[in-house]
Amino acid sequence: MRILLLGSGGREHALAWKLSQSVWTNPLFIAPGNPGTAQCGTNVNLDLSDFDAIAKFCIYEQIEIVVVGPEEPLVNGLYDYFKSKEELQSIHFIGPSKEGAKLEGSKSYAKAFMKRHNIPTASYREFTVETYEEGVQYLKNHPLPIVMKADGLAAGKGVVICQSHVEAIAEFELMIQRAKFGDASRKVVVEAFLTGIELSVFALTDGKNYVILPEAKDYKRIGEADTGLMTGGMGAVSPVPFATPGFMHKVEERIIKPTVDGLFKEGIEYTGFIFFGLINVNGEPLVIEYNCRMGDPETEVVMPRLENDLIGLCVAASQKELHLVKVQADKRAAVTIVAVSKGYPGSYEKGFEITGLTDNYGKQSMVFQAGTKQKDGQIVSNGGRVFCVTSYGSTIEEAVDTSQDVLQYVHFNGMYFRTDIGYEFK
Ligand code: GLY
Repeated sequence: MRILLLGSGGREHALAWKLSQSVWTNPLFIAPGNPGTAQCGTNVNLDLSDFDAIAKFCIYEQIEIVVVGPEEPLVNGLYDYFKSKEELQSIHFIGPSKEGAKLEGSKSYAKAFMKRHNIPTASYREFTVETYEEGVQYLKNHPLPIVMKADGLAAGKGVVICQSHVEAIAEFELMIQRAKFGDASRKVVVEAFLTGIELSVFALTDGKNYVILPEAKDYKRIGEADTGLMTGGMGAVSPVPFATPGFMHKVEERIIKPTVDGLFKEGIEYTGFIFFGLINVNGEPLVIEYNCRMGDPETEVVMPRLENDLIGLCVAASQKELHLVKVQADKRAAVTIVAVSKGYPGSYEKGFEITGLTDNYGKQSMVFQAGTKQKDGQIVSNGGRVFCVTSYGSTIEEAVDTSQDVLQYVHFNGMYFRTDIGYEFK
């Protein structure tokens, strides 16, 4: 089948790696891709906000499946665009409608959806410029810490956790009155802070049925032991030891099933991945957030553990046949460690040559590229998160050690990585 994968990060390299293993894949295009995805297929220079250009390419190349990696084109309505064009109707499109993508694109929408379907989540209120003064009074009486979320997409930066009322009110003013996150923070969701341990659960749905993919836990802080600034993700592990069958049963019954049923009952078209950002509070799962795509860097451990053919899953989803599918996961642990540029998540330099990249790191490891580019015949750093080293192991500890061994010889100037990924589970 003729495949087009959209995106250019580590997630997309992991998806491209998995798609390229399918017997059905021929050829695989990745737009715009990165030097890593170029090892799995053909990169195409398409702008993901230019829907006409994507459509033209699909028609010219007779694309049969489109898999969308990042959220932005989905939130902006790429699915609806495809459905509105006669000549694109036959393409299997993996990604939700604009309405479905609101689960990620609007925190307020997601909260209201969970409320309507009795899906466990933190209690909340939402405020806009019209209810600003009421919001300030609400914050003054809110227990600490206080979680505030910009309603819209804010490049992963729209959540702030405030430790004092003064800080909360100042942040609230910045978000609503001074548009700290642009239009995304014109509406703010204020939530109760939940104490527990987080995990990421992924489902692929056809809008009615679903399959659950291997779960993962990511590490968002820059420093060891989860200290310092938030990042796009410094590493991930799968499986998650506390995601026992009993816990996952609660996740499925209380969260996954009601979410998919809710989408179906409300007539929201959704063929694609749902990422449930969850927290385990004393053994009870609650939803922190939904995303309408796979996670990054979680995909870099989920895809290596997924034994099913990904094209087979995508076609089953598109044909509304996921009830016929059983997901198989590799029993081994997988760990990914993200190598980032010095200074990230603040400012950093780019353009450093990455040495030690090869097409063979041994059977246990693979390198997924993220912020990289080709320059003068070399692969150089081109972002904050530069590449991820994923390894298998019989335990999380063994997989971490193997990834760290690889990180001894794949290198660039100023490279930093956390040495404690999976530390709670060793
Ligand atoms: N790892 C979190 C995310 O992809 O949003």
